[in-house]
Amino acid sequence: MNILGIEGTAWNLSCAIVDEKQVISEVESSYQPVKGGIHPREAAQHHASEIKGVIVGALSNAKENGVPKESLSAVSFSQGPGMGPCLRTVATAARALSLSLKIPLVGVNHCIAHVEVGRWNQNVKDPVVLYTSGANSQVLSLRDKKYRIFGETMDIGIGNALDKFGRYAGLKHPGGPKIEKLARQAKKYVPLPYVVKGMDLSFSGLTTAAKDALKTNSLEDVCYGFQETAFAMLVEVTERALAHLEKDEVLLVGGVGANSRLKDMLKTMCDERGAKFFAPDNRFMKDNASMIAYTGLLMFKKGITTPISESFVRPDYRPDNVCILWV
Ligand code: ATP
Ligand code: FE2
Repeated sequence: MNILGIEGTAWNLSCAIVDEKQVISEVESSYQPVKGGIHPREAAQHHASEIKGVIVGALSNAKENGVPKESLSAVSFSQGPGMGPCLRTVATAARALSLSLKIPLVGVNHCIAHVEVGRWNQNVKDPVVLYTSGANSQVLSLRDKKYRIFGETMDIGIGNALDKFGRYAGLKHPGGPKIEKLARQAKKYVPLPYVVKGMDLSFSGLTTAAKDALKTNSLEDVCYGFQETAFAMLVEVTERALAHLEKDEVLLVGGVGANSRLKDMLKTMCDERGAKFFAPDNRFMKDNASMIAYTGLLMFKKGITTPISESFVRPDYRPDNVCILWV
């Protein structure tokens, strides 16, 4: 079975075609803000001008790999969560493609797609998932056919926190990868507010304190303090979920998952508890259309499709609203 998927919730616009075993083709085009952070309308304009080329490119690569468009079974798309204008651009293209190819539409939850592509790539069964990206920071695990959220940020996502601090410090968006490099050159640890309430997290106070700390500390040292503090918070909540659920696998997903220090800290925690740690290849950590196509495939195989009348975008679509029929 071959399924096409389109991603475009924020900075990444991409189209991929997958089957049960592999990615057959994937073409992407990233929006990079000229200055500041991601502007939803500008990102949507980027997506609108690039989407035709991205879809045509993915279709023609698939054809070269022996998968013509006539062999596609469904068109899946990121229905949410994400930036409204970006989601609408992608949903419009997906509807048009589904109508013209005369195949069903499958609306996919972007967070679930991060999780499912991680499980696929790493062959993990029933993990506690730490999902860390720009807009999201959640600890999820499967219970009674739903990915329940055991802990999450009460304000901004860890990626947005890093990017905001980075912009303030003069680093171009996205700040996350630049902060990781700078932190490696730190000479000392700068203490910053560590905010875990029950199973939930908060990053906005930490971000403000990190900005203040730049007055009296080097950028490298504050980057290091920021990462150590924020990542320790994430690892603490992940560990508690692991202990309560009595599971023995941890899966890291989402763009911030590319960070080596975060991976090392999770690995150490897992080693100490006798749990296994999994992190997918970076191309599947960050936003990508393969994850949408693959989750669309899992859904379609279970008979789940999205009629056009229900294909409206869902900017606040939570992963625990989705019934997981395929596990
Ligand atoms: P979502 O809609 O799931 O929140 P997203 O639009 O934020 O996704 P992702 O690609 O999942 O997109 O994550 C992007 C984030 O990842 C950005 O905030 C970026 O700074 C961060 N990031 C990327 N690489 C690294 C890194 N090496 N270290 C820390 N953060 C990183
Ligand atoms: Fe994402």
